[in-house]
Amino acid sequence: MAAATENDDTILDNQLKPDSEPAPVNPSSPPEEKPLSKNAQKKQLKQQRYEAKKAEKKAQEKEHKRKEGERKHKEWEETLANATEEERLKLIESRRSLRKERMEKRSEEKEKKMERLTRAKEIGQNIVIDVDFAHLMSESEISSLVQQIMYCYAVNGRSNSPCHLWLTGVQGEMSTQLDRLPGFEKWFIEKESKCYIEAMADRKENLVYLTADSETVLEDLDPKDIYIIGGLVDRNRFKGITMNKAQEQGIKTAKLPIGEYMKMSSSQVLTVNQVLEILVKFLETRDWKTSFFTVIPQRKRSGVDPVDSSKLEPL
Ligand SMILES: C[S@@+](CC[C@H](N)C(=O)[O-])C[C@H]1O[C@@H](n2cnc3c(N)ncnc32)[C@H](O)[C@@H]1O
Repeated sequence: MAAATENDDTILDNQLKPDSEPAPVNPSSPPEEKPLSKNAQKKQLKQQRYEAKKAEKKAQEKEHKRKEGERKHKEWEETLANATEEERLKLIESRRSLRKERMEKRSEEKEKKMERLTRAKEIGQNIVIDVDFAHLMSESEISSLVQQIMYCYAVNGRSNSPCHLWLTGVQGEMSTQLDRLPGFEKWFIEKESKCYIEAMADRKENLVYLTADSETVLEDLDPKDIYIIGGLVDRNRFKGITMNKAQEQGIKTAKLPIGEYMKMSSSQVLTVNQVLEILVKFLETRDWKTSFFTVIPQRKRSGVDPVDSSKLEPL
């Protein structure tokens, strides 16, 4: 069992936007796919338009940032050019100390983050991402999953109550793509080439596979239990795959209590990063409603949320 250590996540944090969902894969080339129905084609088109808009917005933001940088640099040069020698020295010195302060703050934050993750490793909630499905995914789907895992790691690192995160079944193409992530070797996470069922054989009765197909509704997170998320990007092409896997292995299953708090516009099957983020938010708040409403994007909700009087706050 290999636990990696980490002390520098700057590259990763810079690559991620906290409020963005990783781009789903291009659905035009998944392996062995049947022709799409009219409805599915419509959905695909809608998704593609959404992706194109998102990419355009990202490019605009990048350009804006570049121009802002240029403007600030020019402004600084002009200020220096118009200053006396004494003023110049003062300006440079004050800029230097501001930078130093910022760097100190950053390294302090990093230290705190490491403390939180170390504590989570000792006593935190264990959550596994089962990445043993690479053989069922196209290259772009694997790449999308890798992005989602990167997002999971960043979200967990930023949380005040992070979980102890595991990746199990890390091998083959999955391992190759994960290794390509900048700084992956330093991630403070458990990386395990074996399946959780082998790696955690002594805790089989505590393994709970999270799957939207389960009949058991997850009411709370039990600190003794180990929750498993299927590391799969399949647009639910492999319906029931994680449910079947768990049943064959003889381990418990559970679904998130989404239906009790909100209505979804389509299925209740969420992405890996959404599930992880919901769990991390729940560890922070112990409140499913807040967790769902914070993580599940508006476009995935139907607009009308169910009113379950048992979940309402007393007047
Ligand atoms: C994109 S889904 C994969 C769907 C896949 N066809 C399956 O059968 O699991 C990624 C994973 O997130 C978790 N997940 C997604 N929605 C869930 C829900 N509503 N309740 C519990 N787990 C969920 C499951 O572990 C699932 O395997």
